[in-house]
Amino acid sequence: MKVLITGGCGFLGSNIAASYLESNDEVIIVDALFREGGELNLKWLKSKAKRSQLTFHQQDIADRGKLASVFELHAPFDYVCHLGGQVAMTTSLRDPERDFKTNTIGTFNVLECARAFSPDALIAYSSTNKVYGDLYSMNYLERATRYEIADHESLDESTPLDFASPYGCSKGAADQYVRDWHRNYGLKTVVFRHSTIYGGRQFSTFDQGWIGWFSKQALEQNIELRKNREIKPFTIAGTGKQVRDVLHADDLVRLYRRAYEFRDQIQGEIFNIGGGLKNSLSLLELFALLEDLLSMEQTLIFEHLPRRKSDQDFFVADISKAQRILGWQPRVDCRTGVKRMLDWLNEA
Ligand SMILES: NC(=O)c1ccc[n+]([C@@H]2O[C@H](COP(=O)([O-])OP(=O)(O)OC[C@H]3O[C@@H](n4cnc5c(N)ncnc54)[C@H](O)[C@@H]3O)[C@@H](O)[C@H]2O)c1
Repeated sequence: MKVLITGGCGFLGSNIAASYLESNDEVIIVDALFREGGELNLKWLKSKAKRSQLTFHQQDIADRGKLASVFELHAPFDYVCHLGGQVAMTTSLRDPERDFKTNTIGTFNVLECARAFSPDALIAYSSTNKVYGDLYSMNYLERATRYEIADHESLDESTPLDFASPYGCSKGAADQYVRDWHRNYGLKTVVFRHSTIYGGRQFSTFDQGWIGWFSKQALEQNIELRKNREIKPFTIAGTGKQVRDVLHADDLVRLYRRAYEFRDQIQGEIFNIGGGLKNSLSLLELFALLEDLLSMEQTLIFEHLPRRKSDQDFFVADISKAQRILGWQPRVDCRTGVKRMLDWLNEA
């Protein structure tokens, strides 16, 4: 198989690329290396690749001409995994134009290049639950460690679209273009609306990748604690009761591979994807899990900042459509997954 992966040096892209390298497929990566850790992920992938199995192009997907030359050189592809993107909501508020260029124009360019050079490829797009907006109108219940929604355990694909924040708008527009290019031009597209994903190769930052970020804070506080040094608190935005269903990268890779197997059944479809209710965590619940996994002698120390603009208090994906059509469901429970995250952070 010949697989094109945009954003292939990022967290999800590099995990998917590694999986296709392992199955002896040919992988072509387009990545602008905008994300810290990208070079390290590329080096890691190169160490796995056999000769000429991996080709890397350092390109901005917003530049149509340059993206077209990559397609011209390598197409046709069997599979296009479009994971290149601007990923942080906070960054999108600081620089909405860059966010729009990458997420909306970049996706438009991927679709148009595929239409011109590789019309038979399956194109999978990594969208987001932020297309459903802030969800402020839901009826929330505040429990001891988490928020809940009164009349829903989880949210399915019929939840109304309500793009909020530049990130929500740029990803949401791209999400709709991807589906529409199936409707109007017959491209074989599928959209995955992701919630929180975590795991190895994720270089988390203060504003993106919260499981990885807080796992790192916990490891650091634990070291200070054991050395009897003064502990510097980290910060969290809001009460810490906001909930997401979390999905381990290994389950994400299985999903993208499974999508290719089921390519004839899923064209034009959209799926909500996440760890489901039993793998949902609030920040406070993650902290308790980290304290337990690290056998910490005292609780984590943190300070509260005001809640973030446009943050959802609760999102758990209803994954029954993916279960039904793709026969896919998460296998890595959040306790095992967070333990693996800690192991990877220790190694890294
Ligand atoms: N990780 C999550 O929890 C999560 C949740 C919802 C949606 N997503 C979506 O999944 C995709 C991948 O996320 P990730 O966690 O791997 O992020 P990431 O930041 O680790 O990877 C994104 C990659 O895209 C590259 N990139 C950014 N702008 C580019 C551009 N203009 N041209 C070419 N490459 C560019 C970056 O250099 C980076 O390597 C994103 O589109 C993101 O919106 C991720």
